Amino acid sequence: MSVSTTEIPSHLLTPGPSIEKYLDAYVRELDIPVNLREAVAYALLGGGKRLRPLLAWHCCAGVGAKGELSLPAGAAVELIHAFSLVHDDLPAIDNDTMRRGKPTLHVHAGEAMAILAGDAKLTYAFQIIAEKVTDPAVAGTLVRELALGTSGMITGQVYDTLGGFAPGLSDEQKLVLIHSNKTGALLRASCRMGAICGLAARTGKPGRELQLITDYAEAIGLMFQIVDDILDVTQSAAHTGKATGKDVDAGKLTYPSVLGLERSRAEVVKLRDKALNACHELGPSAEPLAQLAAYMAVRTK
Ligand code: IPE
Ligand code: IPE
Ligand code: MG
Ligand code: MG
Ligand code: MG
Repeated sequence: MSVSTTEIPSHLLTPGPSIEKYLDAYVRELDIPVNLREAVAYALLGGGKRLRPLLAWHCCAGVGAKGELSLPAGAAVELIHAFSLVHDDLPAIDNDTMRRGKPTLHVHAGEAMAILAGDAKLTYAFQIIAEKVTDPAVAGTLVRELALGTSGMITGQVYDTLGGFAPGLSDEQKLVLIHSNKTGALLRASCRMGAICGLAARTGKPGRELQLITDYAEAIGLMFQIVDDILDVTQSAAHTGKATGKDVDAGKLTYPSVLGLERSRAEVVKLRDKALNACHELGPSAEPLAQLAAYMAVRTK
């Protein structure tokens, strides 16, 4: 079994500088007003764990290709993620004033700019694929995956914020729907898009890899938000870089509020093991993914 660590194991972070450089260069080359560029950069660069591009990279490598082929896909998902955080923090949604250890974008640049910079990042995510992925068939597949992930995230945010569930669902069923959409859908897109880039570049017939990557992604996707809920009730804002203790105040449906902490933690272990099983079947090239899953289960921020 992989080593469990509350920090991302450093050898899995070797793609980090390439990911930062790629995002930075893309923001710099956009032909946009200076204030918009500043707002986009503020909420995209220099912060965040970059888990989504890291997952794309290691899923690409996990199917036997060079990880850097995943850079446009990973950057695209990170742009959607950053957009989702800016809008999630708005007064009309979670009304948060701190993100990644600094003031949220609407506090820094005003609400109008936060809305528009979010819209812009949503657009750049698709633009980056159209511009940087040279094979039109691969680009089309990636756009579809990214659209599915983004619309899942928005559906999840609607459930989380406004409800709209079909009648008769239990709280546990609602939780799975909220979490696997608002957070799981983009993590699923990160993994599948990374694997799609890898499979397109690799020689040799595809086998069950994409299905196994999807099984992995769906397990860690739900697990990631359960851990986020747990951290909201167990960690300080100084440690996580964002307000904590807010879910209860806002009356959110969360794993700890419905199942309690102990059963929530058991659920995390169950989902981690599901992800590890998929890695096991993928073989030695998926060892980094196994280590990432182990880390995501015990992360503290
Ligand atoms: C936070 O995501 C929002 C959720 C989907 C739970 P991350 O924990 O990946 O945030 P950053 O990107 O590292 O700031
Ligand atoms: C946010 O979930 C998921 C998104 C789509 C942004 P949360 O509202 O729990 O995320 P945090 O705790 O603010 O990062
Ligand atoms: Mg929210
Ligand atoms: Mg929030
Ligand atoms: Mg949260």
